Amino acid sequence: MLVNKLNWVSSPAASPEVLKTLNSRMAEFYSSLNDRPDYQKLNDDLHDVESHPNNKLAEQIALYIIAKGFKKVLEVGCGSGRIYQHLVRHGFEGSYTGVEMADYVIEANKTKFPAATWKTGSVYDLEQWSDSYDCCFCFYVLEHLIYPDKALTVMMERVRVGGTLILLFPDVRSSGIVPSQKIGLSYGAGAKDKLKKGKVIDAVVSFWEAKVMRNKLRKINQLYGDFVINLTPYCLDKDCREMLPDFDAIYLGSKEEIERWASERGYGVTFPLGKEGLMARNAYVAILKQ
Ligand SMILES: C[S@@+](CC[C@H](N)C(=O)[O-])C[C@H]1O[C@@H](n2cnc3c(N)ncnc32)[C@H](O)[C@@H]1O
Repeated sequence: MLVNKLNWVSSPAASPEVLKTLNSRMAEFYSSLNDRPDYQKLNDDLHDVESHPNNKLAEQIALYIIAKGFKKVLEVGCGSGRIYQHLVRHGFEGSYTGVEMADYVIEANKTKFPAATWKTGSVYDLEQWSDSYDCCFCFYVLEHLIYPDKALTVMMERVRVGGTLILLFPDVRSSGIVPSQKIGLSYGAGAKDKLKKGKVIDAVVSFWEAKVMRNKLRKINQLYGDFVINLTPYCLDKDCREMLPDFDAIYLGSKEEIERWASERGYGVTFPLGKEGLMARNAYVAILKQ
């Protein structure tokens, strides 16, 4: 028994109309001038703390791209160009193109970093492009997509044979955490924090729902199907009053699912930072188009 419904469905099997509406609402959230500046600040703040995992992992991707000798790279969901800055700092001399939904963020990038190419758009627009790249990558973007399987296909189409698609996203099957899912009687903190604040009933409900959710996440694909998404992310909730990390997460992804997707298509798969420690809760996957 749950107080909160898990509004989770398989994206490829869900109602096209429902997905279309959710996609437009999320596009509006990412590009609107009302929400985006605070959202952008939340993301940039994570990169600004030198010791934060986001900053370290962003740098790792830049170092990987340089070590592999990729000369023509495409970043999807590039935000304010944090990985581009790591690339430049580490001596990348190839060509970089960044794509992002928020037009004003792209315009600011054009002014700050004129040597790179910046385009406003969505991952799905790549279907219309003809260029191919040594490497396409996205850093904490896959989990925000309504059509993750379609996005993988179109990104892979932009990778040349012999090139690589790099994905970094939260592995919710391993972490057991879905920050965009309401747990208990209020969003945000977990059961322990709620208890400390004296919210006893909320803490008990949160504890129970988190346990049920963790169990479901472990066998998410058996229960719901492929490419499971959360149809009601907290960022779109009418009661949403605060910006929280990943309150806009949609796709409940895992290393296993991406590896399966890639292997079924004959692509090579590696995990450059392994699967343990920090990389248990996250997935850093390199998919080789061989
Ligand atoms: C958590 S942020 C990460 C941004 C950036 N990679 C960084 O680490 O600073 C998620 C990003 O995904 C972008 N995004 C969401 N949906 C997208 C879509 N359909 N196509 C391209 N980018 C998208 C958002 O605009 C946002 O910039």
